[in-house]
Amino acid sequence: MSRKLLQYKNGNLCFGPNAVPLSKFVENYKQPVLVYDLNIIRERINWIKGWKGLGQVHFAVKSNFNLDILKFIKNAGCGADVVSVGEIKRSLEAGFAMSDIIFSGVGKSREELSWAIERGIYQINIESHSELKKIIEISERLGRNVSVGLRINPEVDAETHKSISTALKDSKFGLDMQTGRECIEILSKTKNVKLKALSFHLGSQILNISVYEKALAVMKPYYLEAKAKCPDLDRFDLGGGIGIDYTDADSGVDQSRWLLLQSLYEKELSDFKATYLLEIGRFIVARSGVLLARVEIIKNNPFKKFLVLDTGMTHIMRPALYNAFHGHCARIYTDCRRRICSDLRCGRLRKCHGIPL
Ligand SMILES: Cc1ncc(COP(=O)(O)O)c(C=O)c1O
Repeated sequence: MSRKLLQYKNGNLCFGPNAVPLSKFVENYKQPVLVYDLNIIRERINWIKGWKGLGQVHFAVKSNFNLDILKFIKNAGCGADVVSVGEIKRSLEAGFAMSDIIFSGVGKSREELSWAIERGIYQINIESHSELKKIIEISERLGRNVSVGLRINPEVDAETHKSISTALKDSKFGLDMQTGRECIEILSKTKNVKLKALSFHLGSQILNISVYEKALAVMKPYYLEAKAKCPDLDRFDLGGGIGIDYTDADSGVDQSRWLLLQSLYEKELSDFKATYLLEIGRFIVARSGVLLARVEIIKNNPFKKFLVLDTGMTHIMRPALYNAFHGHCARIYTDCRRRICSDLRCGRLRKCHGIPL
């Protein structure tokens, strides 16, 4: 069922499941403003937690580190997935405990690893042989036990932008399967550092759910192989990456995409024994905010028409990254809309957003 998160009602651009008119946030407009609807985040967490087999969903903090949003996500019962001590500190400030946090990331420093191990982090996902060596040294020096995961690349193309397809043979992230086996061998003989998890993260903005099926076909036997050597292994971390359609803010379509993934997990994992973890970011928060800005200048040249806003990359980096498409609904909201709407009937906007101009 279609449920648009951005729609016009009586000429007002409205946002969220309760169709709140955005005009109320710009009545005394002074500067660009980000407006979030927490109902959207809550609803998505509920969808994900609707998978009965799930152990825990760890919110990928990199996707939004606004403190109030992190607090909300913590109170909704999620853990956190972080890639730096900065993100750990932010998560702690929001109320997460060290036992809620998975420490991911390809470039963790010795200082960061020591800091996290000393404070009893829940799980460190290892992405290189040299990181494993550092962790063994640190845990021996501190006399601390540490639970680790190995992030393995199942060599599956996530069918997304090549820079965010992260589990291929030559990816800078994660471990290739052979190096992973060498790490499993080392961990099977290491006392303080326990292999508790195998993880994979295929990439981000994944729209074709069948790529997860390909990954599970590789990772399930790999997990069993690892478990035979390291019997403490009992967590299967399925990463994140589920995407959204940026051309159409429709939560009905998003929910269907999640349900497709959930039924894949149910089918593929019902005969498997492990605690399942997810590290989802974008899918939880990307729909929850809009940036409202003012059109400062309307500029024509013989070839193109421009609306120049009082916002830019400092407020929203995404459109500048990886050839990203990002619809600009807010720009057609302002008073200018009424004056210049006929000039804006370019077809592209209407096609992208289904918005009557
Ligand atoms: C290791 C890891 N886990 C989870 C995520 C979150 O991905 P997404 O926001 O696409 O769900 C990322 C994103 O880069 C990641 O690198």
